[in-house]
Amino acid sequence: HVAVLDFGSQYTQLIVRRVRELGYFAKLYLPEHLDAIGKPGAIILSGGPKSTSDEDAPDIDFEMLQGYGVPVLGVCYGMQLLNIKFGGCVKKSNHREYGNAMLYPVEQTGLYEGISAESQVWMSHSDTVDSLGEDCRVIAKNQHGTPVSLQWGESFFGIQFHPEVTHSHEGTQILKNFLDTAGELAAFHIEDFKQELIDEIRAKVGEKQVVCGVSGGVDSTVLAVLLHEAGVNVKAIYVDQGLMRKNETAEVEANFKRMGVPIEVVDASERFLTALDGEGDPEKKRKIIGNLFIDVFWDAVGDAEMLAQGTLYPDVIESASNENSKASTIKTHHNRVDRILEMQKEGKVLEPLAELFKDEVRELGANMGIQQDILDRHPFPGPGLAVRCPGVVTKERLDIIRDCDHIFISELKESGWYQKTWQAYAGLIPVKTVGVKGDERSYEYATNLRAVISEDAMTADWVDLPTPLLRKVSSRILNEVSGINRVLYDISSKPPASIEWE
Ligand code: XMP
Repeated sequence: HVAVLDFGSQYTQLIVRRVRELGYFAKLYLPEHLDAIGKPGAIILSGGPKSTSDEDAPDIDFEMLQGYGVPVLGVCYGMQLLNIKFGGCVKKSNHREYGNAMLYPVEQTGLYEGISAESQVWMSHSDTVDSLGEDCRVIAKNQHGTPVSLQWGESFFGIQFHPEVTHSHEGTQILKNFLDTAGELAAFHIEDFKQELIDEIRAKVGEKQVVCGVSGGVDSTVLAVLLHEAGVNVKAIYVDQGLMRKNETAEVEANFKRMGVPIEVVDASERFLTALDGEGDPEKKRKIIGNLFIDVFWDAVGDAEMLAQGTLYPDVIESASNENSKASTIKTHHNRVDRILEMQKEGKVLEPLAELFKDEVRELGANMGIQQDILDRHPFPGPGLAVRCPGVVTKERLDIIRDCDHIFISELKESGWYQKTWQAYAGLIPVKTVGVKGDERSYEYATNLRAVISEDAMTADWVDLPTPLLRKVSSRILNEVSGINRVLYDISSKPPASIEWE
C-alpha cells in the first residue's frame, strides 16, 4: 500500500483520495507512527501548516524512513523537511505564495514524464528551498526560476506545489509517475478496506454498546450496516426532528426492518419545533438542532457508551476550525457541535467513515448488499429542512417545503434526472409576493428549486435541467401546493453559494 504521512495540511486526505483513484490502496498515518506503517510500497509526506524552522515543527525519523527502502515523495512541507534531512536549508519567508503558479520541468522524464513543458500548479506555502542537500537535483522550477521540485538519488522526490488539488492540472499524472517508480503496489479493493474498518471498529468498541444515529441516508445506513456486520452491540436510533421530508420516517423504518438492522424511531418533532420557535439565525438554528438531537438521542438510550456517526471527509474539513485553526469554518456542521466535540475528547465518538468520500461509501454499501435505491438517495443535511427554510422555521413553512419537494423529486425520478443530479430539493423563500390565483389576488411565498452536480460536496454546479421538466414541476407546484405562488430555479454554483441555503 501507499503510506501517507499527515503533517497537518488540509489537503492530506485528498492525497489519499487521489492515490485510491489511481487504483492503489492508500492509508493515512501520523509521522510519529512511522514504525507502524507495515510494509508500504511507497511513502508520501504531506504538506502542513508549520514552518520547518518552527520550534514545534513536526519531524520524522529519517533513518527509519530511509530504512523502508521505498520511493518517497515529499509534498510542500514534506519536501522542505526532506531537503533539511539531506543537509539542505529552507528559507523562511514572510510572503505567502498562494494560488496558481507555473511549473517548468527541467526534463520531461521521471516524475515529469509526459508532463507539459509549462503546466499550471497550485501553491500554498511561505518557506522556500534555500540551499540544496547532498546528491540533490532540481527537477522543476517555477516562472521565477525558483526550484519547486527536487530529487535526491533515485527514489526520493520533493514537490513544492500541491498535486492533489484539481487546480494543479497535471497533478494526478505527477502522482501516478511517482507511484510508477514504486514497482508493484497493492490495488485498492473496497473489500479490503471494509475489513480494515471492521477490525478498527472491533478494536475500538470491544464489548461496549454503540448508539448509531440513522437518518435513512446513504452514510448513516452504510454505517449502521457496517457496525451490524462488525458484530458489535449496536442500536440504531432514528430521531424524527419534524424536519424530514414527506413520508420519510415511515420509509426509513421499513427499509431498516427489511435489512434486519434493529431501529428505534423517536418522534421528537414537537420538541424540535418548540426549541426552534422564533429563531432565525442560521448558526443558532444549527446549534439548537444539533444539541437537541444529542439530548433526545441520549434520552432514548440512557446508558449507551459510545456514539457512532456517519461523518465523511468533506464534513471533517469544512468544520475543521472547530478543533484547530487549519481551515476556516464555513458552517457549523450538525455533527460537530460543542457537545459532540466534548464527547470526542473523551474518546466516545466513533467515525469509521471519516476517511471516505461519498462515492466510496456507496461502493462500500453496495459491497454489503444495501439496495440500490438507498445507495442512490441524494444526501440530506443533518439539520434537515431547517437549512432549506431560511429564517424562522414553522410547521406551515415545513409543510409547504415538503409538498414542493415531493413534487420536484417525483418528477426528477420520473424523468430519469434524479440519478443524474447529485442533490436536489425544493426550499422556501420566506418572502411573500403578490400573484393571482383563480380570480383572486394571492400573497404567498416562493419556492426555490435547487439541483446540483458535485463530486464531494466541496464544490458544486447547478444542473441545466430541461425546460419542459422545469415547466412541469413549476406548473404542478403552483397548482397543487397552497401557500406558493412563485417557483424559482437556483442557478448558483458553489462557491460562492453553498448547496443549502443556510
Ligand atoms: P453546503 O450547503 O455546505 O452543503 O454546500 C454541502 C453538503 O453538506 C450537506 N450538509 C450537511 N450535512 N450535516 C450534514 O450531515 C449538516 O449540518 C449539513 N449541512 C449541509 C448538504 O446537504 C450538502 O450535501
